[in-house]
Amino acid sequence: MQMKVAPSLLSADFLRLEKDVEMLNAAADIIHLDIMDGTFVPNISFGFPVIEAVAKKATVPLDAHFMVVNPGAWIERCAEIGISMMSFHLEAAGRKTRGLLRTIQSHGMKAGIAVNPDVPIEKLYPYIGEADYFLIMSVFAGFGGQKFIYESLDRVFSLRKKLDSAGNGAMIEVDGGVGEGNAAALSEAGANILVAGSAVFKSASPSKTIAAIRNPR
Ligand code: DX5
Ligand code: ZN
Repeated sequence: MQMKVAPSLLSADFLRLEKDVEMLNAAADIIHLDIMDGTFVPNISFGFPVIEAVAKKATVPLDAHFMVVNPGAWIERCAEIGISMMSFHLEAAGRKTRGLLRTIQSHGMKAGIAVNPDVPIEKLYPYIGEADYFLIMSVFAGFGGQKFIYESLDRVFSLRKKLDSAGNGAMIEVDGGVGEGNAAALSEAGANILVAGSAVFKSASPSKTIAAIRNPR
């Protein structure tokens, strides 16, 4: 499966964001933006002033991952600034999930549902046919630089099997602790977008690392 790499800006050097966005324009498929509210997750990242600045400079699609209690509040603004993909957590949205997917899509964006590692994967099945993509967290949301949870591979595999049997081609994005070492296994399990923060930005050659994640051996 052709893999797309979505480096997470959370691990970038915020004093030289422009250079990092230029590097990602040339080397990456997607730019992943982690938005945290300090309540859904015990951390705060960055907000719209930063996202808008990145959007002005980015030429590759922007993927906004909302780790917030009330994702619905930000849909319109995301659409206005040209976000292509918007995901929110099932744990935060609960019964509002279906409506949020539709609203995101009606604003011309791809809609994704994210889940932390402790959410049973079957909870995503009712949304097959409605979500454009599923974001499987392979660490607990909130911080970059955590260790990949190995069992995530089984979760990706189960979801891909379920999608295949439903004849659905939704994308599976995997986020957390991803790098050259597990990209091949994730691809085999059925992932098609890999988010990588520290693996890319701590690398001596971020663009080479992105290419290696995209075409794992
Ligand atoms: C964690 C974020 C991730 C994170 C990934 O809450 O959703 O996107 O930045 O960083 P690494 O690749 O370092 O685990
Ligand atoms: Zn993320």
